[in-house]
Amino acid sequence: MTKMRETAAEESLFRNFTLAESTSHVAEVDALVCNGDAAAFLRTIPDGYVRLVASSPPYNIGKPYEHKRDLGDYIEWQAEILGQCVRVLQDGGSLCWQVGNYVESGEIVPLDALFYPLLKERWGLKLRNRIVWHFEHGLHARKRLSGRYEVILWFTKGDDYLFNLDPIRVPQKYPGKLHHKGPHRGTPSGNPLGKNPGDIWTLLQDDWDSQIWDIPNVKCNHPEKTPHPAQFPVELVERLVLALSNRGEVVLDPFVGVGSTLVAALLHERRAIGVDTQRSYVDIALARLEALRNGTLRRRAMGTAKYTPNGNEKIAQRPQEWGVDAREEYRATSPLAVRLPGIAESSPRNRD
Ligand SMILES: C[S@@+](CC[C@H](N)C(=O)[O-])C[C@H]1O[C@@H](n2cnc3c(N)ncnc32)[C@H](O)[C@@H]1O
Repeated sequence: MTKMRETAAEESLFRNFTLAESTSHVAEVDALVCNGDAAAFLRTIPDGYVRLVASSPPYNIGKPYEHKRDLGDYIEWQAEILGQCVRVLQDGGSLCWQVGNYVESGEIVPLDALFYPLLKERWGLKLRNRIVWHFEHGLHARKRLSGRYEVILWFTKGDDYLFNLDPIRVPQKYPGKLHHKGPHRGTPSGNPLGKNPGDIWTLLQDDWDSQIWDIPNVKCNHPEKTPHPAQFPVELVERLVLALSNRGEVVLDPFVGVGSTLVAALLHERRAIGVDTQRSYVDIALARLEALRNGTLRRRAMGTAKYTPNGNEKIAQRPQEWGVDAREEYRATSPLAVRLPGIAESSPRNRD
């Protein structure tokens, strides 16, 4: 085991982190990262050691970090990993699997539809939410509607599970709303800590996408961007960490990439374990942990207002070379628009 650095100064967020091949020394550190295969590494974690598993696996779509395989083989491989995750999860713990679509010759297969029966029937986990992670930007499809959401399946191991709602509440739209009847009439009806954020999460991804993938001249300006092609925002995991674990408990990501889950966990004083096959990503993850420890990590703070163009930016305006807006022409000449007056004229109600 290579210890990266010994116990840091008092004011640091966490004590130390390590790069290791197994979890044999996991109790001595706050974060342990392995450069290796998830299935082999997970076998080194003791039963019931983890409070929260939060991860986004490869989708089997041919990204540089995966080998595309037959869909059935992919699910069986995932089942091997998930079986280990369930074993290391404590009773009352949570497993959050963030997935999108598998795509083959233009046909999509929503991966959560395949993971749901697996997790429910093979290990008896219980689904508490299917969180929709909605975004406005991304690849533009030509022969179907552009995909604008992915999902997080939140399962628990058992019915007596941890759920901390207060740390993830968000401001109400109308905090001044009052009870209009009953014993509390005239008093505020909302919770002073805010409302339940619901199961559709937009705030995070709108900003993330608009700043990373869709606006070329700010492409690399997002504070969290690294060379990883499928990194998720730290803020997304922060919500899961805050709601589904307590301080000092262990969060695991078996496909840790550049360490977004580790950062989220350590930011909130949890302990963290991650593994990834790609050395270059693991190196970035370690560098991000070091930056977090010394206070230089670039990240978007949780709850930061999303970026909204005011319409005056060049990038928000219709390019002059596109000429007349063809959509206007289409609307003006659409059969529906032409036909409507005719229908009205011949309508029985208009005949007199
Ligand atoms: C969707 S990415 C996860 C990105 C991560 N959430 C982040 O924010 O950086 C999936 C990751 O799984 C890793 N991976 C693929 N096969 C693996 C395996 N057998 N064991 C461990 N990691 C693997 C890839 O290298 C990739 O970084």
